[in-house]
Amino acid sequence: MTFDYYQTRYLAAALCVTLYIALCSRIIYREWKKHQQAAKNAAALNASASGVDAWLIVYGSQTGNAEQLAWQTAQALHTANIPAQITSLAQLSANTLQSYKRALFITSTYGEGDPPDNATIFAHKIMGNHYSLNTLQYAVLALGDRQYKNFCGFGRQLDQWLQSQGAQAIYPRIDVSNSDPKALAQWREQLSLLTGTELLTAWQTPTYESWRLAVRQHMNPGSAGNPVYHLELAPPNEQYTPTWQAGDLVQLLPPSDPERPREYSIASIATDKRIHLLIRQERRTDGSLGVSSGWLTQHAALNSNVTLRIRPHRNFRLEANIDRPLILIGNGTGLAGLRALLKERAANHKHTNWLIFGERNAAFDNYYRDELVTWQQQGMLTTDLVFSRDTAQCRYVQDQLRHKATQLKEWIDQGAAIYVCGSLEGMASGVDAALKEIIGAEEVQRLTEEGRYRRDVY
Ligand SMILES: Cc1cc2nc3c(=O)[nH]c(=O)nc-3n(C[C@H](O)[C@H](O)[C@H](O)COP(=O)(O)O)c2cc1C
Repeated sequence: MTFDYYQTRYLAAALCVTLYIALCSRIIYREWKKHQQAAKNAAALNASASGVDAWLIVYGSQTGNAEQLAWQTAQALHTANIPAQITSLAQLSANTLQSYKRALFITSTYGEGDPPDNATIFAHKIMGNHYSLNTLQYAVLALGDRQYKNFCGFGRQLDQWLQSQGAQAIYPRIDVSNSDPKALAQWREQLSLLTGTELLTAWQTPTYESWRLAVRQHMNPGSAGNPVYHLELAPPNEQYTPTWQAGDLVQLLPPSDPERPREYSIASIATDKRIHLLIRQERRTDGSLGVSSGWLTQHAALNSNVTLRIRPHRNFRLEANIDRPLILIGNGTGLAGLRALLKERAANHKHTNWLIFGERNAAFDNYYRDELVTWQQQGMLTTDLVFSRDTAQCRYVQDQLRHKATQLKEWIDQGAAIYVCGSLEGMASGVDAALKEIIGAEEVQRLTEEGRYRRDVY
């Protein structure tokens, strides 16, 4: 059978439409599955909780600490036979809030006293308005870090807003610096008093493991910036099967300050069998080395033990974005988190990836160069490497985004998701501003809500 010119064109067009529908259906199916799973988890907990009497547990979380504490809180109440329902600030409407008599808010603070990404819409749309919450009793657990000027800034704002809407605090807000165990114990005690039960079961302390520092490689000799090291940590034993996902973090306990875990993005995937890290050696103003980075990059002997635990960072995982084109944006050691995502993409044969990465000089700061070139040659990576000190007028990743605005819009139209990893000041805030300029603030908000704009920034 032969086809004439018009029939051939018609068939080609029909084929394109069919493929397009199949692709869309697959994406919709994955999204649906993700929501089903989240709904299943919440439903399991919410099953016995009837609307009016139930306590509402609400979390605002960037890297998962507040979310984890919210689940522990809800689980503890559930174990004490107190009906509890859980939701994120992203999903909370004013109507829902008004329908509850008791709510517990657990939220972190980001940027410079800003809400975490999943709370920005609530902060702008709902906290910018007035709602009568006279019948609501509430408590706030605010997570933060005292080293920041606006310690627990968003938790404070939320607390003040609730008060100004007429809601009554059951007990004063509890501020937690860097997961301080004493402050968290206070939260548990308050809940115990309130519920008249001992709520210990759901609050097990996290367990740490002893890994081995197997490799330490200086990545940027001659650089104008501080030294950056690639580290490899080997698991406790040969039989150990690691199960983390690209995007997850590691918490390390430096021997000289074991009370405060330090977090780093994991630069490898579980099938690598080792945790890779990309760490910049920090120096304080007096010239001494930073506690954690100094230990890892200089003081710790090779093959010595490193106490750590892997922390899921669901907000930076690929999850339902696995089938979408991916735009990865970052600077400096932020390449760590992006490298793990790229490795996972390679392992899953997902070839539509665009990396926009910034550092100082190509001659010294081009980390993982061979690996990136190999991925480019394999046709699974488009790169825009921006070296700010190699040009007369310093150019950064946000400038490159503006320069490639047309391509960026095309990728987003084709369903791309955007992942940003690296410094908040300068890079991530600049990228956010550039995105808003190029596609508009509403579109950026829509991408955030759809889980297509995710950040691991510090
Ligand atoms: C980039 C960045 C900015 C932060 N800004 C603040 C801040 O302004 N005020 C504060 O108290 N804590 C700040 N923190 C600390 C976080 O609130 C704290 O680590 C919290 O435990 C994170 O909880 P989450 O994982 O639920 O988001 C910041 C942390 C990062 C990484």
